[in-house]
Amino acid sequence: MLLFITVVAVAVAIVYSIASSIASYRKLAHIPGPKWAAWSNLWLVRGQLSGQLNFILRDINKHYGKLARIGPNWVVCGDPAEIRRIWAARPNYRRGYWYRGLRFDPYRDHTLSTLDEKVHSQLRSKMLPGYGGKDVDGLHEAIDVHVAAFVELLEDKYLAGDPSKSHVPYRTVDLALKIQLFTLDVISTLAFGETFGCLDADADTSGYLEVTERVTPILAAMAIFPWVVDFLQSRVWRLLIPNVNKIVGFGIMKLAKRTVDARYGEKPLIKRDMLGSFVKHGLSRDEAEGEAMTQIVAGSDTTATAIRATLLYITTNPQVYARLQREIDESVCAGRISSPISDAEARRFPYLQAVIREGLRMWPPASGLQPKVSMTDDVICGIRVPAGTSVAWAPWTMMHDKGVFGEDAYQFQPERWLDTPPEQLRVMEQTAMLGFAGGSRYECLGKNVAMIELNKVFVELLRRFDIVLVDPTQP
Ligand code: HEM
Repeated sequence: MLLFITVVAVAVAIVYSIASSIASYRKLAHIPGPKWAAWSNLWLVRGQLSGQLNFILRDINKHYGKLARIGPNWVVCGDPAEIRRIWAARPNYRRGYWYRGLRFDPYRDHTLSTLDEKVHSQLRSKMLPGYGGKDVDGLHEAIDVHVAAFVELLEDKYLAGDPSKSHVPYRTVDLALKIQLFTLDVISTLAFGETFGCLDADADTSGYLEVTERVTPILAAMAIFPWVVDFLQSRVWRLLIPNVNKIVGFGIMKLAKRTVDARYGEKPLIKRDMLGSFVKHGLSRDEAEGEAMTQIVAGSDTTATAIRATLLYITTNPQVYARLQREIDESVCAGRISSPISDAEARRFPYLQAVIREGLRMWPPASGLQPKVSMTDDVICGIRVPAGTSVAWAPWTMMHDKGVFGEDAYQFQPERWLDTPPEQLRVMEQTAMLGFAGGSRYECLGKNVAMIELNKVFVELLRRFDIVLVDPTQP
């Protein structure tokens, strides 16, 4: 009898799964895309795990058009105007369930993971003053300290050689890693009021980089399956493994807790820093802890990627390098800039600003799927998209759109930001800034902080060092 029931149950499960696969296949059958993606999410998972999903989605848009199917219930859109419309402040679209997978504490939401539009907007409004630097003292100075430490590390440890000898024994340095140490030190200072001290130690002191490089691709792949997210965040799992944070490996969550605990309770520590601003504007203790962590996760790797990619483009484009160097050198010689350069001074460097924009455009640092889901049927790029479909974005397609950036969109050409007529420039600006998820609903809260870092770091490096690639085939 038991065998009979088991056989029937398995048969019902198989029939149900085949029927639902066919139903979901038919729902988006009119949208072009790779054959296997229409039947299984494994196509998307494979792309995510390859670390090349940004390029894969760009190629998909090239092949199938600006709207393509990439999963049984997924499409990707590479049209900047459509993405702006979908992300704009209107109630029709919501974040997809994928965002739930961004929780680092499986049992609690933060700004980036919350799906509830109302909760999200309330959280944002409590944090806007802090992120905007309104009631924060010493934001710029805190960044300056780490810019100076970055330069000092390179000068003390990696700049060597005797110029009197014909073969100067240059030392090599993995700048990509040092840049990550720099952004981690900046963001830990802003989030916790105490630095991780990575630059001083010349090491990933908190182990954050090691953990994220190992765990992030797996988490991003799992986020594609809502049932996996639900299972991992379920009460059953909590009973089995009460201290899941240790497994995920975010040891710095302890630091977040310690820092936040000091700001609440009977004798709270009152400080005019970002956390102080969050507390002042009504964030609860749990929320503040989550948001301190969010700053690290959202603000370190993104900014590091922007710096690394832009520096790579500068050093591999001699005409850009020379022009930027000239702009910096002339100002240094004329005594027009401080050391480190102030944010206000850097904003007056037209070519530097063009280089920064072009770097963000060429290599958009945030390139997760970031899906939004419509509550009603919609038409995207002229194709009907049924309600409930996850609509991902393809930053690589949008940022290299020839219609927006011109025929040379695939080249690093900062000049385009200086000699394009104002009307087109506005469209270019809007599109490039989608890299920070423009619009009042989702726009990056840390954009101001990131721009201050970018405004300082290139000038401070290039005014002191000439940078060349050791192995151009492995930059
Ligand atoms: C070049 C650097 C950066 C880029 C390209 C970038 C990009 C983005 C993008 C695309 C989003 C939207 C995510 C979404 O809702 O799908 C976002 C959100 C966010 N970013 Fe950034 N980010 C950068 C730096 C930073 C920094 C330095 C911080 C912290 C100081 C930060 C904090 C945040 C936070 C808190 C959110 C969540 C906003 C919300 O959910 O409403 N970001 N960022």
